[in-house]
Amino acid sequence: MNAIPVGILGTGKYVPEQVLTNKDLEQMVETNDEWIVTRTGIKERRIAASDEATSDLAFKAAEQAIANAGLTVDDIDLIIVATVTPDMSFPSTACLVQARLGAKCPAFDLSAACSGFIYSLVTGNGLIQSGLYKRILVIGAETLSRITDYTDRNTCILFGDGAGAVVIGEVPAGRGFQSFEIGADGTGGELLKVSGGGSRKPASAETVANKEHSIYMAGNEVFKFAVRIMGNAAESAIEKAGLTKADIDLLVPHQANIRIIQSSLNRLELSEDKAMINLDKYGNMSAASIPVALAEAVEQGRVKEGDKLCLVGFGGGLTWGATVIVW
Ligand code: UT7
Repeated sequence: MNAIPVGILGTGKYVPEQVLTNKDLEQMVETNDEWIVTRTGIKERRIAASDEATSDLAFKAAEQAIANAGLTVDDIDLIIVATVTPDMSFPSTACLVQARLGAKCPAFDLSAACSGFIYSLVTGNGLIQSGLYKRILVIGAETLSRITDYTDRNTCILFGDGAGAVVIGEVPAGRGFQSFEIGADGTGGELLKVSGGGSRKPASAETVANKEHSIYMAGNEVFKFAVRIMGNAAESAIEKAGLTKADIDLLVPHQANIRIIQSSLNRLELSEDKAMINLDKYGNMSAASIPVALAEAVEQGRVKEGDKLCLVGFGGGLTWGATVIVW
């Protein structure tokens, strides 16, 4: 697929200190720990401090990824931040991170909800193939707590805050990204959205009263879509890479619901120890889920040179994406 072999040179992550447990949520909405654990697998999530915004989380993950790659800020040619919770409409969160890092390179945000990190890898890989850039910082960062309605038990049990980052660039032949699969179905946009605050419904007393600045989700519909698309996207990326399901050493899935991950494992005929799962600690961090899971897999020594990884996610849009990487 790639004329220039491109892969991940370093990983980083940052999650805020404050923990919101299922017990805490029991005090906030009509729910219980047992329901949340059996239906989602989530036990706790992290919540950004009142003075922390998405760019603060992204900056910390980015610093770690650059150091982990053995590089300095001056080696970075472009910054892409995948997020649906930017600090503000503009400047982009990527520009805010660029300033904090003291970088001089171009920077932009990419909006593809929970699939944003995979979409950003596709974009970054393509720009390196074109010869425009050599090393790109790709960040997935979210403060979903800022767009979560903590009176809505259908959504508030799911989401958390965090950031994951990677630096991508040239790797030895035979390694790096082997395939990509991304897709979108805009007809499903209504199933998962924040409708207020944009040009269709600018912020007003009415949008605030109607809670239109918080996530609306048709949980069941999204669940059915997720189960279908995670398997399809992963299988397609594996096939495009010229591999079979049995070749995959580690699946790094979007961390939305343990039942969705289990169904992907079944479809790929992989055992649970072949998946990186950390949603019990962090819940769903949208674009940050996959890079945080990847950074933790690396930290825990679960990824060895030559291993074949499949990263796969889905989310609002509706969107989906998968990639196969030889580490
Ligand atoms: O990043 C992508 C974003 N989203 C997702 O991936 C989410 C995909 N969807 C899901 O993960 C699941 O649909 C949920 C976890 C959101 C919900 O699980 P479910 O098994 O689909 O439950 P349900 O919505 O069918 O609700 C079952 C019951 C309902 O009660 P009744 O109508 O059967 O009496 C709900 O009212 O569970 C009730 N319920 C709750 N009970 C306790 C819904 N939320 C809660 C709750 N605690 N937090």
